[in-house]
Amino acid sequence: MTREIRRLGVLTSGGDAPGMNAAIRAVVRACVHHGIKPYGIREGYKGLIDGQIEPMNARSVANIVNQGGTLLKSARSQAFRTPEGRQTAFENFRSADLDALVVIGGDGSFTGATLFEKEFGIPVVGVPGTIDNDIFGTDYTIGYDTALNTVVEAVDKIRDTATSHNRLFFIEVMGRDAGFIALNSGIGCGAEEILIPEADRGIDHLIKSLERSDRAGKTSSIVLVAEGGKGGGAFELAKTLEARLPDYEARVTVLGHIQRGGRPSCFDRVLASRLGVAAVKTLLEGSSSVMVGVRNNAVALTPFAEAISKHNAIDKALLEVADIVSI
Ligand code: F6P
Repeated sequence: MTREIRRLGVLTSGGDAPGMNAAIRAVVRACVHHGIKPYGIREGYKGLIDGQIEPMNARSVANIVNQGGTLLKSARSQAFRTPEGRQTAFENFRSADLDALVVIGGDGSFTGATLFEKEFGIPVVGVPGTIDNDIFGTDYTIGYDTALNTVVEAVDKIRDTATSHNRLFFIEVMGRDAGFIALNSGIGCGAEEILIPEADRGIDHLIKSLERSDRAGKTSSIVLVAEGGKGGGAFELAKTLEARLPDYEARVTVLGHIQRGGRPSCFDRVLASRLGVAAVKTLLEGSSSVMVGVRNNAVALTPFAEAISKHNAIDKALLEVADIVSI
């Protein structure tokens, strides 16, 4: 089955991620390639409700493949969660005479997309853009690789001062409820311990591990903490630990939104380009209500319902690797 598309809208929604610009560029240029007129919707679903819909062309996405953030801006729209908000969005969509929509964002954005397609019959395809890497149906989300590199670079710097002062550092990274960023950057920067929500090993495990490090002759340690962990954030954990081991004077760094910015890595640029092109092709081939992702290095489609309801499991073998290489 094929679908005729004359005019296509593209938006970025939810937390921004490095590589979103490369994805917008790919969608816009794939449209031009296929003879479709591309339209950019600013500020995600909010812009759809406010009617911020502007024509784009191959030149309007020039020189953005290397830029972080999103040219179209992003938002988390409360109004789009309401039927009234979606009705207004639909009216603006129709006034702009658009035939289909590409949504670049996370699973919250795909939930909105599902409703929009169900209620108004608008064909929508999703592109996974979030640093969290927490979307089922793709091995990698756009922005994750860049965020990992940002974390590793920051922790390398903290490692220098931790070593100089024989200190213990708790470093908190993003990831919402998932530990992908913490686990993989933790291995990359040689963290002594990595605390993630998917494998809560408790404070006793952490204490034993630090004592073992002491005995092994280590004079400083880095504990990487995923923000969604059960033991609370890095500050809380440091307090709990100091109460149990008063000899330790821990320092805490919360890396925060630095992880969302910066020039996208080459990996993210390539991923975003592949998925942006695939999203337009998928719509033209007649599919919708699906996310385009990459599985085993091939483009793969996952129904929104699955992408939203299921979760990628952490590779437990990586935890074992982390334990072994940090002795
Ligand atoms: O989903 C991306 C993300 O950066 C999460 O890692 C984090 O929990 C959340 O967004 C932060 O959201 P906000 O920018 O709205 O504070």
